[in-house]
Amino acid sequence: MATTTAFRASILHCLADPRGATDHNKSSAVEYIDDGLLIVENGYVRETGEAEALLPGLSEDVEVVEHRDKLIIPGMIDCHVHFPQVDIIASYGEQLLDWLNRYAYPVEQKFADAAHAAEVADFFVDELLRNGTTTALVFATVHPQSVDAIFDKALRQNMRLLAGKVLMDKNCPEELRDDAQSGYTDSLELINKWHGKGRLSYAITPRFAVTSSEGQLAEAGRLASEHPDVYVHTHLAENKDEVELIAKQFSWSRSYLDVYEHFGLLRERSVFAHCLHLDDRDQKSMADHGGAIAFCPSSNMFLGSGLFDLRSAHDKGIRVGLGTDIGGGTSLSMLRTVSEAYKVLHLLGQGLPPFDALYLATLGAARALYLEDRIGNFEPGKEADFVVLDAKAISITSRRLSRSDDVAEKLFALIMLGDDRSVAATYLMGELAHSVG
Ligand code: GUN
Ligand code: ZN
Repeated sequence: MATTTAFRASILHCLADPRGATDHNKSSAVEYIDDGLLIVENGYVRETGEAEALLPGLSEDVEVVEHRDKLIIPGMIDCHVHFPQVDIIASYGEQLLDWLNRYAYPVEQKFADAAHAAEVADFFVDELLRNGTTTALVFATVHPQSVDAIFDKALRQNMRLLAGKVLMDKNCPEELRDDAQSGYTDSLELINKWHGKGRLSYAITPRFAVTSSEGQLAEAGRLASEHPDVYVHTHLAENKDEVELIAKQFSWSRSYLDVYEHFGLLRERSVFAHCLHLDDRDQKSMADHGGAIAFCPSSNMFLGSGLFDLRSAHDKGIRVGLGTDIGGGTSLSMLRTVSEAYKVLHLLGQGLPPFDALYLATLGAARALYLEDRIGNFEPGKEADFVVLDAKAISITSRRLSRSDDVAEKLFALIMLGDDRSVAATYLMGELAHSVG
């Protein structure tokens, strides 16, 4: 028997990349329904449309959940985040390499303890849901039990989550090192245990080329070629000192990206966080191989790393999503992260119009993760992950939105002023996963 539920609210989602829209405010790239109905059957979107048109055709046993005067958008997607780093968010003062040594590595050592990993994973996933994030690509630690912890929690929530064991065998504390062979076999075991289970996907996760031997990168590349449907997730060209270190460590390489490409780690389903220092050839290579970039604005500013040139990446045809990059970033809220992206782009003389902003956090991110056939908008047949936003939850947002009737203008203000308080409810496959009160 089909289980059908209908959700009544204003509904807004992207139908296409707004950058391709030629109309004045790009409204052809989105669907907005002021009094809408989202009909979910067995966890998948059956239909969206005007409530008045659809309600009479619903059979009597279909429950109608009322979220009137609120806005439903697709669940937001965080393309790069470290769950073990929630306890060092907002740590003072250092840039990347010193920050790793002073804050990140010490806190990650605690994940040798499975009970600790489980406690942090629980907190982290609950926080994602509270913030309206329904899909995330997640760094664990070097310890396989840290991956078990995050996948176990996501599976219990029926959440779409991608994660992997960190590979690191040099230039880091002894306690956090694996080796080329154990990194390969541990990752393979985790792929066999978790990849494709529920809504989970595995990501082969070399931390960055600084902390891997050539042997380890080669083994990671071998695993990636043996499992093309598994993800690759790493950092690339975030910080100037890091880029210099790579040039010394891999003196044969043309560029930082060339190192990953050489070892077979640049391909479809490879996601690279940051990418602040790519040249034209790197960008072309990234686009040609189908790699994706996770743009992490709050982290890039907090760690003093730099400003990401989104226009250039888009012009080259590269897939781009957004990442919070906790603990380098300072908020798990994708609304805040989009707002920070807008400011970074403004500093570069670039724009991020309202519907483009929505696209980056939803359908564009789904495309970066090669998941646009499953999530990212409300096309029939997609997984019904969605967020109910309440503009009235924040008094200044409420006041600002009451001053406008224009959907794009309202969306923009809602995003710029929004955070976890704006999220009234989060649904995973049509089931309530978080709600206020
Ligand atoms: N590069 C290598 N490891 C990390 C990390 O944990 N955070 C960030 N922001 N960059 C990295
Ligand atoms: Zn990161």
